[in-house]
Amino acid sequence: MCGIAGYVGHRNAVEVVLDQLQRLEYRGYDSAGVAFLDGDSLKTIKRAGKLEELKQLIGADLPDSNLAIAHSRWATHGPPTDLNAHPHADQGGRIALIHNGIIENYLELKEELVRKGHSFQSETDTEVAAHVIGQEYGEGTSLEDAVRRGVKRMKGAYAFVVASADEPDKIVAVRAASPLVIGLGDGETMLASDIPALLPYTRRVVILESGQLAILTPEGLKVQNLAGAEVDYVPFEPDWDVASAEKGGFEHFMLKEITEQPEVVHQCLAGRLTEGGKIKFEQIFSDHVLQDIDRINVIACGTAYHAGLMAKHVFERMLRLPTDVFYSSEFRYGDPVLSPKSLAIFVSQSGETADSLAALRLCKKKRIRTLGIVNVVGSSIARECDRVLFTQAGPEISVASTKAYTAQVLVLFMLALYVAQVREMPGIRLRETTAQLRKFGDYVQDALQLEDEIKRVAQQFEDAKLVFFLGRGADASLALEGALKLKEIAYLPTQECPAGEMKHGPLALIEPGVPALFGATDEGVRDKIVSNVREVQARGGQAIVMTTDDEGRFDSVADSVLKVPQSGNPYLNALITIVPLQLFAYHMALVRGCEIDQPRNLAKSVTVE
Ligand code: F6R
Repeated sequence: MCGIAGYVGHRNAVEVVLDQLQRLEYRGYDSAGVAFLDGDSLKTIKRAGKLEELKQLIGADLPDSNLAIAHSRWATHGPPTDLNAHPHADQGGRIALIHNGIIENYLELKEELVRKGHSFQSETDTEVAAHVIGQEYGEGTSLEDAVRRGVKRMKGAYAFVVASADEPDKIVAVRAASPLVIGLGDGETMLASDIPALLPYTRRVVILESGQLAILTPEGLKVQNLAGAEVDYVPFEPDWDVASAEKGGFEHFMLKEITEQPEVVHQCLAGRLTEGGKIKFEQIFSDHVLQDIDRINVIACGTAYHAGLMAKHVFERMLRLPTDVFYSSEFRYGDPVLSPKSLAIFVSQSGETADSLAALRLCKKKRIRTLGIVNVVGSSIARECDRVLFTQAGPEISVASTKAYTAQVLVLFMLALYVAQVREMPGIRLRETTAQLRKFGDYVQDALQLEDEIKRVAQQFEDAKLVFFLGRGADASLALEGALKLKEIAYLPTQECPAGEMKHGPLALIEPGVPALFGATDEGVRDKIVSNVREVQARGGQAIVMTTDDEGRFDSVADSVLKVPQSGNPYLNALITIVPLQLFAYHMALVRGCEIDQPRNLAKSVTVE
């Protein structure tokens, strides 16, 4: 969630780290700061609010420095104020430190330091960390030794980046859980909390592992373990290009990411459908293991959890495999009953979500087989799962997840087909289904043509106080995701549930003018949805129906009808409605003047509990 940037080398370091912070804005933050070498001391400038405010404070004439570290903070200890913003200094003001994560024993450490005469400017755990490391930074000690000794006294999950005025060509970074990536250039070395921030400068990337310490100088990188022994590393070249991590002419990353979904579908399917109409996965369990599985647990948070709900329909109806879907935060403390033959599937865009990671570790401790469905290569969940299937959706920058969801559902769908293939289940019609999958990108492209109609619906309901999202079966799972999107970015209360549940309570909230978005892609329950539409209208509500029905059977029933393409497959039909749902949330947020790519109170990557 916090953004970390650091640079040492021949360029203007302040300019580089400010640019890197901008590329990390998607992570969510509420203050920002930078420390840079200014003559023989370190100068720190920091500000509550957006990066733009920090830039104004620094001024157009950027300080000329070859070393800088910078940070965008997501408040955990103390509110987002100028003083609580990072970087923080030690007692002597010789070092500057930035941090992502939480120091669990910071209060004990702080009390001990106060007894020794230390004074603190902020309420943060990070300033305590700076003082602890500063205490270890005595005569004849190198910065890396001080960091190594300091972190031994701290408990928690963190990534620290430290610079010292006394060692002006060096940045030291250490990682315990929170992500850090390092970029290698010619006469320059840099770091960040995520790869897109490095791409304009270098394509040679090293992922720092948990428990490793990095020493960055213009000449290059040294990696050590916490005992001080040198560790080998192998740089790799990410296949993401700079353009795919930038807005590409769209007003918002969210719209760009919604619009690029046809391409994402192709990327996600790439190499996974054979000519003979079968599914092919590179990294998956053996046939024997897949035949042995007796139940599936999908564990995830937020949007990824909603992708898991879609998977439940497929696994249960297609494979007849009992499937439970858990919120990671409930799973980890819920003492779940786990069959030794079960498969635990962890769905995560970032691969760093703290609750999902903890739930994964719990499963590993109980020797349950684990499979990750992850977007970010090299992320913790991807590395720790027994097997991983990447969603291949490219970097998702907007805080509100869109294209990652579509790719997650597709991978889960392909997984169900793969298991059916391995189990030689009759009646699955693999060839036909893979042909429908191949065309899915085109259907998504067609659904994007609804944007103008959706814009009109959004303008009509701009002042709504509450929006309903309804459906049955897979459409009900989509309703949950549509509602989450609207809450997140348009700050509108929503009521979402299976349409058949309305009369058991939620119907009380329908008042004249309240909009209700219905997903109606399932032929089998079409008449039931018609009755639910009438229930809403009888109380003055307005029904907007998204349907694959091309015979106009909702035309005389609904207040508005949004026709989505018919793919021939019930799960894919439901999934197509994600496009109008995402566009509805986007246009509602736009007409209501909300900040779309960094909505309030949310972070892209939730690396703390
Ligand atoms: C919603 C959203 C969040 C994430 C959730 C899990 O738009 O982005 O609900 O889906 O925080 O994040 P990952 O998938 O990174 O584990």
